[in-house]
Amino acid sequence: MEQEVVSKEMRACAHGGVYSVNPNLVRLDCSSSINPLGTPRKAIAAIQKNAKSLAPMYPDSECRELKKSLSRYLRVDPEWISAGNGAMEIIYWFAQAFAKSRVVIPAPTFCEYELASHNAGAEVAFVPLRNFEFDADEIIEKAKGADAAFLCNPNNPTGMLATREIRKIIKSVDSSTKILLDECFIELVDDPDASSMINMIEKFDNLVILRSLTKSFGLAGLRVGYSICNPSLADKLSANKIPWNVNGLAQAAGVAALAQKKHLPRARAIVKKERKFLHDSINRLRSFKPSRSDANFFLVDLQGGNSTQFRDALLKKTGVLVRDCSTFTGMGSQYIRVAVKAHRENLQLLKALEAFDRG
Ligand SMILES: Cc1ncc(COP(=O)(O)O)c(C=O)c1O
Repeated sequence: MEQEVVSKEMRACAHGGVYSVNPNLVRLDCSSSINPLGTPRKAIAAIQKNAKSLAPMYPDSECRELKKSLSRYLRVDPEWISAGNGAMEIIYWFAQAFAKSRVVIPAPTFCEYELASHNAGAEVAFVPLRNFEFDADEIIEKAKGADAAFLCNPNNPTGMLATREIRKIIKSVDSSTKILLDECFIELVDDPDASSMINMIEKFDNLVILRSLTKSFGLAGLRVGYSICNPSLADKLSANKIPWNVNGLAQAAGVAALAQKKHLPRARAIVKKERKFLHDSINRLRSFKPSRSDANFFLVDLQGGNSTQFRDALLKKTGVLVRDCSTFTGMGSQYIRVAVKAHRENLQLLKALEAFDRG
């Protein structure tokens, strides 16, 4: 993507998921990248047990129990944690609070950063990825005088980690530029502790780390996200928070999910094994070229095929839904993204792709 890198255009931000198409057609959703083990058993039990008492009750607007659990899980003080209705809510808080005139966003990446910044009235300076890698120097250069920068590690839709580059960016950007570092998928990479930048928040008071329980703990339908940053930045960040933004059952499910300690390590082991299996198997097909990834999803190059047409044809014929990536700014129209799921589902995806292989 070597095109003009400043965008003032307001565009829609498409997502994957069952409701992005006719839901009746979907037998297997490989378009949203959720923990392959789904929701922890303890979280489901907490929802069932608490439904009757929590449904008629206003939730704790401050999410105290949830923050306490997150604090133990992250080894971070609860005052440094803000809870949102999914990470999405916090992206919009961040843009409203800090994106006044110009922000920097690599491209392609998660499209809501762009949309939230435009909504806040800011101009977006895109920095194209090079071979899907972050161009740290270019981002640092473009961030001079910018209000904010949005970074995603591992990046969506590539699934690639850019830990070294992002660390350099955080260290180099002026402290007046706020940084939203989205780590919503980091708990599903092989070694999250080595990749996360949570340990930088004490030193960099312009840094907001964004996380979510929606993907890592399979709570996408309940909507629980959170951020970690220093308390005075957190006050500014959540200036637009509405009361009761995280519902009571979501809070209870979040607490229970975090108590199921083996859920994530088990999911990571599956992702690591199945990513290799799926990647290698797709690589053997003629029409599809999978990209390297560190996460629980990866890109597949259709090598000339059109991703929207392909998604629709695959869905119609096989009931398998993949993510059409043409709606990611700077992505072009020949990539799809697939989620790494449990083995049986990956076989189903593979069989569906084989039905479209020219080989
Ligand atoms: C990179 C990234 N960040 C944040 C989100 C939003 O997450 P949540 O479901 O917690 O709102 C998504 C959703 O797809 C995402 O891909």
